[in-house]
Amino acid sequence: MAAVSVFYVTTPIYYPNADPHLGHAYTTVYADILARYHRLRGDETFFLTGTDEHGLKLQRTAEKRGVHPKEFVDEMAEKYKGYWRLLDISYDRFIRTTDPDHEEVVKWALEELYRKGLIYKARYSGWYCVDCEKFYSEGEYEVVEGKPHCPIHKKPLEWLEEDSYYFRLSEFKDYLVGVLKGDTVYPRQYALEVLGKIEKEGLLDVSIARPKSRVWWGIPLPWDQEYTTYVWFDALLNYLTGAGILREPARFKRLWPAAHHVIGKDILWFHTAIWFSMLHALEIPPPRRVLVHAFLINRGLKMGKSAGNVVRIEDLLERYQGSDGLRYIIARLFNLHKDIEVSTSLFDSIYNGDLADNYGNLARRVGTLAKRKLDGKVGGDSIDEDLHEAIIKTHMAYEEAMQSYEVSRAVEAVMDLLRRANAYMNESKPWEKQEPVRELYTVLEAVRAATIMLHPVIPKATTKLAEAFGFQLDYNTITEPLQEYNIREAPILFKKIK
Ligand code: MSP
Repeated sequence: MAAVSVFYVTTPIYYPNADPHLGHAYTTVYADILARYHRLRGDETFFLTGTDEHGLKLQRTAEKRGVHPKEFVDEMAEKYKGYWRLLDISYDRFIRTTDPDHEEVVKWALEELYRKGLIYKARYSGWYCVDCEKFYSEGEYEVVEGKPHCPIHKKPLEWLEEDSYYFRLSEFKDYLVGVLKGDTVYPRQYALEVLGKIEKEGLLDVSIARPKSRVWWGIPLPWDQEYTTYVWFDALLNYLTGAGILREPARFKRLWPAAHHVIGKDILWFHTAIWFSMLHALEIPPPRRVLVHAFLINRGLKMGKSAGNVVRIEDLLERYQGSDGLRYIIARLFNLHKDIEVSTSLFDSIYNGDLADNYGNLARRVGTLAKRKLDGKVGGDSIDEDLHEAIIKTHMAYEEAMQSYEVSRAVEAVMDLLRRANAYMNESKPWEKQEPVRELYTVLEAVRAATIMLHPVIPKATTKLAEAFGFQLDYNTITEPLQEYNIREAPILFKKIK
């Protein structure tokens, strides 16, 4: 028996200070497509997402509302789960940094590093952005009217000065440079970016704690109760907790070498310089990959709550009549390399062109004809050679793209196949024939292959069509001819938007 491949995929754990918006859905849907694709192939798959619940940002948000942060994050975590349900996100675990097994892991990691002499106490000062939960050095921040501002949130930074505990990040420079020269960070442009930053600024030790008097909402340091753990140190460790590092070591051993962290480029430094060093200090190898993507932008700025330009998930779910439409649009737009500007007309044209006209219309047409001409029974005695070859080639292109994490390219290959099948249908004119078995069978084979390949992207419509047309969503049968179709009905999968 062939060894089962393992695939472990994570999203960033989101700050639940507000509802998720299209930017968060962008990452989460992408990770979900990768997870569903691997499950469909039969790989042992584990998909982790969740919420990052500690720190100053959450403490302040809860304070403003006059509730305890725990009460607030309990409510918000449920909201996140609700959104992910609406988007058909098939996570295996929703992790919260307030989960007991996670607090255990954070304490364990802190104690390990403290014992190894990698944490020390010192005075600490700098310009801080609460929205990023991060310090900015000179050259990194923007100066507006003489005052330092966050380059991402465009808000004034706060000056902080206090005693704190530091992690000896500077000791890991050689190690880091080595890892960054390998293939862990994907696409490579982002590894080069981090290397450039290390070269230019060097690697400074980082504070991993906050005085309790200022930030009390966090995990206390095991050796000094007057301090809480810095939210990023706490958060990154969720990837170890989720894989079961302390409680299920055998599972952790299987999953960790297959770990894929999907992140936006805003949190690249944390997921490389800091995370790889933390892992190395804990004697854990880096994840298999850090998959970095660019931003969704709206009116020229990164979409975000502070920029006031968010697109609401619920509005898009309504416009595109449920999760499939929105998931598909995200898949088609998703870009690891460059920022994408959102626009309703672009979204509409993707939905109408690809889903309603190309896929949906072809499925409906071939199904209707099969019912009318052949009473729904279409046997596979012969197939058009060219289209059969196109199916095989599309499958190869799709596989190659998915293995390279290029979901949009995979989806485009499938759309090409469907366009060819549409053209074949128009040329062979099965409606003019008495018994167009070969013609309809050929088109059905293309539709079936496309449906299986699109299943990770649009799970609802593909499940519906497979049931209506009588075939299995079995990845191993994409290019294996089906003996006979038994078509019960020809559903309208996507209604066109006017
Ligand atoms: N809590 C940290 C992550 C800790 S992971 C150990 C955090 N949370 S966040 O809520 O701010 O989410 C950031 C992530 O959301 C980005 O890295 C990205 O994946 C996603 N996005 C948020 N806005 C986005 C866009 N406008 N465009 C693309 N992705 C966006 O940072």
